[in-house]
Amino acid sequence: GFRTSVRVRPIPKFERCEQLSERVPYTTDDAGLPAPSDRFSESVGANGPLLMQDHYVIQKMAHFNRERVPERVVHAKGGGAFGELEITEDVSAYTKASLFQKGAKTPLLIRFSTVAGELGSADTARDPRGFALKFYTDEGNYDIVGNNTPIFFIRDPSQFSDFIHSQKRRADNQLRDHNMQWDFWTQTPASSHQVSFLMTDRGTPKSWRHMHGFGSHTFMWYNADGAKFWVKYHFKTDQGVQNLSADEAKGIEAADPDAHRRDLWTAIENGDFPSWTVNVQIMPFEDAAEYRVNPFDLTKVWPHEDYPEITIGKFTLNRNPRNYFSEIEQAGFEPSNLVPGIAMSPDKMLQGRLFSYPDAHRYRIGPNYLQLPVNQPKAPVNSYNFDGPMNFEAKSDPVYAPNTAGGPVAQPERYDGAGYHVSGDIVRSDYALHKEDDDFSQPRALWEKVLTEDERTAMVGNIVGHASAPEVTGDMKKRVVEYWTNIHPDLGAGVAKGLGVQG
Ligand code: NDP
Ligand code: HEM
Repeated sequence: GFRTSVRVRPIPKFERCEQLSERVPYTTDDAGLPAPSDRFSESVGANGPLLMQDHYVIQKMAHFNRERVPERVVHAKGGGAFGELEITEDVSAYTKASLFQKGAKTPLLIRFSTVAGELGSADTARDPRGFALKFYTDEGNYDIVGNNTPIFFIRDPSQFSDFIHSQKRRADNQLRDHNMQWDFWTQTPASSHQVSFLMTDRGTPKSWRHMHGFGSHTFMWYNADGAKFWVKYHFKTDQGVQNLSADEAKGIEAADPDAHRRDLWTAIENGDFPSWTVNVQIMPFEDAAEYRVNPFDLTKVWPHEDYPEITIGKFTLNRNPRNYFSEIEQAGFEPSNLVPGIAMSPDKMLQGRLFSYPDAHRYRIGPNYLQLPVNQPKAPVNSYNFDGPMNFEAKSDPVYAPNTAGGPVAQPERYDGAGYHVSGDIVRSDYALHKEDDDFSQPRALWEKVLTEDERTAMVGNIVGHASAPEVTGDMKKRVVEYWTNIHPDLGAGVAKGLGVQG
């Protein structure tokens, strides 16, 4: 037989491990083979070099090198939980979607996030918060991938990457740069409504539990008879809106960058389950053409006096993830996941997002991301897509449609009602104006009729603090003052005073 000239010492025994091993499962490698050791590599003699044949330790090191997927290009830092949606009102006149029928209960996943920061960044940064919902319905996944604001910075998806580049880091020194942020915003008047929200104390929520969520876009609902409506979602926090002042947010940033992750986790662990009341605004299909503002423009809300909010139910979060990576990091939300009874609208931002998210997941998580447990629908999956990297579904024949082999057959009638008529020349242009469309009236209404005196003072202070960063130039400060003066002269004057800009 084969003999080695080197004597390999036996692996030392540890009393504690021996005792434990009677009570806990034994370690294996990923192929299920019993592990030779939890602590020692295989070496030639106790002091000798390690052996290539130690595939167990090689697997450990190699797998470790592959523990990360790329972080989300936006909304990298976040946290999430599972829960349930319950519908308490009858809205069958507006939508036939099964999850919205009275009495329906649907399991859900939510993920909250900041937008611009990286994975380890602080939860209390001034930023919109992502508010992404995945409902596991009996008709497939329905995702509402919203924010804690009802509006957005831009209204054309071609600007999204430019906008995000201005919010993230410079190419040369890898620093965030407020001059670059204001450079983009002040040349993009459409941003003024969302930047107004951002600069109030709602830009620094106390926790994820203490903020509202919004679907933000306008979606279509259609009922079983094919009658169509436009709809906006409002998720109102039952914990009450609570915010941090800029100073409080900075303090928490230093003391506990994971404060919001911790807050949600702890509340749920303690059985203090947070909930949100689900409201909708519903616009009859025909109103859209003549409505005073373009109802598909993501920089606008629908004023409540025109379309009041109607409560339809509530959702509650009651379970923390067991494994953060597989249930939150590998979750892929996609605005294109719409169930029968709900359809796209002509909102250009929504149209852009229909492409962007599934594309991001194929790159970030892999083309079979929908097979992962957290993304897997709780409805049957009978598609003709199969194979690919990391496939673990054993789909069998037939592999094509149409077929005469008894394979799945589409049911187009389930989408009856989703279409609508469009016509026009092919152009590159902003939306055609409705009679009251402009970029400043709605943020002006926020300033004039919604904010209290204290909230206005805080807003001016937050803007001045942000635009006082050392990299913001004198010329840029003048543009910042102009930007806010467009919304309201008092707001512009407050900012001018704070920045020391002469009128
Ligand atoms: P309303 O007075 O009917 O509604 C004002 C809305 O603002 C309420 O939803 C209120 O609900 C919310 N709000 C209150 N305080 C603040 C704050 N500090 N920051 C942000 N939102 C706040 O008026 P309109 O519907 O005519 O809207 C007026 C303006 O209010 C809009 O131009 C928009 O800027 C803002 N707004 C409107 C919303 C809408 O969907 N119509 C939604 C949110 C804001 P709550 O306190 O529960 O958030
Ligand atoms: C995440 C693109 C606008 C909310 C993302 C991601 C991309 C993206 C690529 C990362 C996805 C991933 O890797 O999992 C875009 C584009 C937009 C846009 C191209 C405009 C055209 C918006 C708007 C909202 C929004 C308007 C809210 C109303 C979110 C949220 C996430 C996200 C909440 C994180 C989802 C999660 O928790 O996994 N976006 N986005 N985005 N976006 Fe957008």
